Amino acid sequence: MRQASGGDLESRFAEIVGPGRVRSDPSSLAAYGIDATVGYRGHPALAVFPATAAAAASALTLAGSLGLAVTARGGGTSLAAGATPLDGSVVICTELIDEPLQVDPEALSVRCGAGVKTAQIDEAAAEFGLFLAPDPGARAISVIGGNVATNAGGALGLAYGVIRNHVLGLEYVTVGGEIRQARRGGPDEGMVDLLIGSEGTLGLITAVELALLPAPPRRRSLAARCADAAAAARATIALLERGFSPARIEFMDDVAVRAVQAARDRGLDLAVGAYLLIEFVGLGSRPQRQVEAALDALQGTGGVEAEQVSGPRERAYWEARHAITSSLARVRPGKIGEDICLPRTRLPDAVERIKQIAAELDLPIALFGHIGDGTLHPNVLYDPLDQGQRDRAGRALGLIAETSIELGGVLSGEHGLGRVKRDHLAAAFDADTLAVFQRLRDAADPEAVLNRPLQWAGG
Ligand code: LAC
Ligand code: ZN
Repeated sequence: MRQASGGDLESRFAEIVGPGRVRSDPSSLAAYGIDATVGYRGHPALAVFPATAAAAASALTLAGSLGLAVTARGGGTSLAAGATPLDGSVVICTELIDEPLQVDPEALSVRCGAGVKTAQIDEAAAEFGLFLAPDPGARAISVIGGNVATNAGGALGLAYGVIRNHVLGLEYVTVGGEIRQARRGGPDEGMVDLLIGSEGTLGLITAVELALLPAPPRRRSLAARCADAAAAARATIALLERGFSPARIEFMDDVAVRAVQAARDRGLDLAVGAYLLIEFVGLGSRPQRQVEAALDALQGTGGVEAEQVSGPRERAYWEARHAITSSLARVRPGKIGEDICLPRTRLPDAVERIKQIAAELDLPIALFGHIGDGTLHPNVLYDPLDQGQRDRAGRALGLIAETSIELGGVLSGEHGLGRVKRDHLAAAFDADTLAVFQRLRDAADPEAVLNRPLQWAGG
């Protein structure tokens, strides 16, 4: 193993991926040293942008032969520092691997390069009256390879499941530089499931094949003003226990409402403890009948006042929900977002405990998320220039993770583990399970080239 450095290194990679597809200038390295997670930064040696699977394979092999770690990066929208590179590593960006994008309307499927933006798939599918069910919050700028590598979800996960449930096949590059295809129903089906959610640790995904669904023709929404987040959680449980099956059940608490209203007046009530937003979809009059039945059912639920919303008000509510993440800086400049997922019966306890953590640590925590499937995004808001707030935000993050595990939940519903949750793995999994993970990892990547663990001491 030999080391190359500086211009030599850059030209070695440029020979493979092409001139202009390697960056090592300080501003590029700063840009590719971060993802969408506030407070996490790495110092990569190089960012490379292969445009084909073959170029990605050669770049991976070259990095390995030079003893350099590789960080896989899709659209850079991770909220768990999943694409924050290790110092001195090579960031392999898949965003230029964006061909082909082929919808097969007969087979209800789409095949595309890993670098295709998630929203581009939505647009291509819509031309045939179809849609991709997973709807991650960042889909306008995230890429599909990253969505698959992190097993992303979205609000529609309640009705349709997360991306794992929609992947039909994958093309991926092994750390040894082999380009492989794995399909559901084929001999390599197990590899499909291993790579989904592997966060760049087992191979580099270069193309995907996904299932599409016929777009539901009708949608109807209701909005509920709730006394607090726990009341929103109890109302969610009450509806699900009675057999309602909405496409989305989302919520946002008072801190989230304050942030979105500060960014733009969307007519939300700042005095409300939490809003619950529910959408039914389907054929004919069914969504309307479901909204009416749900309104009846919610009448008996304490602390909740629900009404049907349509037209501009309906749009304003849903836009407000999707604007939360980008508006949180209106409350405090720094945020660190959690993504816990709990058994739904434990949601009222979880939100109450998180409110308590906020009070004890004297930091605002915005609570929102896909409450219908148990996914909460508690976002701890702080000022990164204030050391005391920074420390307390770190403590809050740990306490939220512990709360989830204690209540029978998991560390991530849809964002992945990334660097943010690395320290909590030992609390979330038993030692035998962690040992199995390690052996899988050692088998796929014995030199730990891919997303090398921070504490890795080999080489
Ligand atoms: C959302 C992102 C944070 O649900 O996952 O808005
Ligand atoms: Zn989300």
